[in-house]
Amino acid sequence: MNSPRKLFIRTYGCQMNEYDSARTADALAHSHGLELAERPEEADVLLVNTCSVREKAQEKVFSELGRWRALKRLRPGVVIGVGGCVASQEGDAIRARAPCVDLVCGPRTLHRVPGMLDDVLRGRGPRVDVSFPEVEKFDCLPAPGVHGPTAFVSVMEGCSKYCSFCIVPYTRGEEFSRGFEEVLDEVRGLAAKGVREVTFLGQNVNAFRGAVEGARPASLARLIAAAAGVRGIGRIRYTTSHPSQMSRGLVDAYRDVPELASHLHLPVQSGSDRVLKLMNRPPRVDRYRGTVARLRERRPGISISSDFIVGFPGETDADFQATLDLVDEIGFDTSFSFIYSRRPGTPAAELADTIPPAEKKARLAALQARLADHASRIAAAMVGTVQRVLVERPSKKDPAMLSGRTGNNRVVNFASPAGDLLIGRFVNVRIDEALPNSLRGAVVPSRLRGMDAGA
Ligand code: SAM
Ligand code: F3S
Repeated sequence: MNSPRKLFIRTYGCQMNEYDSARTADALAHSHGLELAERPEEADVLLVNTCSVREKAQEKVFSELGRWRALKRLRPGVVIGVGGCVASQEGDAIRARAPCVDLVCGPRTLHRVPGMLDDVLRGRGPRVDVSFPEVEKFDCLPAPGVHGPTAFVSVMEGCSKYCSFCIVPYTRGEEFSRGFEEVLDEVRGLAAKGVREVTFLGQNVNAFRGAVEGARPASLARLIAAAAGVRGIGRIRYTTSHPSQMSRGLVDAYRDVPELASHLHLPVQSGSDRVLKLMNRPPRVDRYRGTVARLRERRPGISISSDFIVGFPGETDADFQATLDLVDEIGFDTSFSFIYSRRPGTPAAELADTIPPAEKKARLAALQARLADHASRIAAAMVGTVQRVLVERPSKKDPAMLSGRTGNNRVVNFASPAGDLLIGRFVNVRIDEALPNSLRGAVVPSRLRGMDAGA
């Protein structure tokens, strides 16, 4: 076929996958001049970045490949690739089930996609590489493209926690951190291009141990302090953290680093010690409570969100009630909750799953109602306060308005007296109304700046 011109990427799963897709697009723009297409029908190269955390996400991939096979029948030169966790898990087996696939790469080999694409275009046949090289990935990727004032920065890969239900350690490999200076350089480069807020990413981002030449590895707390000193960076977030690694230094950062956003996603999964033990999730609930109390002492008003799994094998009514009680006690902000999905190859897959599906669904609905209740109460309590908002873009619903996020990660839409000029700036916004999925407000004249507004 002629040289490919357009690339379409479909991404399933977590922010790490979003980040990986963006970096793959950057790499292919650099190597082959590929531009992003809006729809698969317009593209010459089709990639799907997959997730295997739950069965449903995994199955979506094969339905997508079915649709793409039809496109390839019409245009046989189209190249189809599969990346991410399903690719890592299935390897060659993907091609057995979907022979239309030309290349398969894992989460740690996406920087090799340009070379694999070359091989396919030269007629060398399909390419599969789902190995786990450690360092190479970030050394080989071009500098990340900048799209607006916020950016993700991946600081570590993989997970070594082996929660009994989770497939991630097997698909993404063990924890591996990027070098401290390498990450800081990326932050400096992004800030120079107008980025004002960075989110450090990792499956277990607080396990970050960034190598430093001639010294001890740097912790996430040290990275946060250093990034806060980078000119232009006004806000820092990180996700996802594991509760067992909320070190004292990291908790203290909420007192010492004003740029650190007043929001922490700290997955607890269950409010029952018995279930946490089966999940292989230390720490137990009491230690989690203690961590939250220390965080709130260092940063009053910090919002805490979590992931929850309901219907884990053997979860009793009492265990589930303990989860609901913890939700009320902590007052979690907008959180994620899932029905347990059995993942073959994980230890929990061996446990007898005796809870009827209808019961699992009922528990999920009850938990989600409780979580929604807390989230809307938190939003309602923000009405009348002044929040520091990073202005990101024109509002999706009404382009005459601007849209940004508060420190606790809520979308705020507001009329702008200065039009698009405010994009990329921090402004103080008075919150006037709490809607189900967003807030509405108005920019506060500068003489009132400082009231209530936090990171
Ligand atoms: N590193 C994070 C942590 O500290 O827990 C979690 C990353 S995991 C990919 C994202 C979320 O997916 C988990 O927190 C968990 O709630 C959910 N998850 C993982 N495996 C699951 C499974 N087998 N069934 C249902 N939900 C699952
Ligand atoms: Fe999965 Fe637990 Fe790691 S949920 S990503 S094994 S911390």
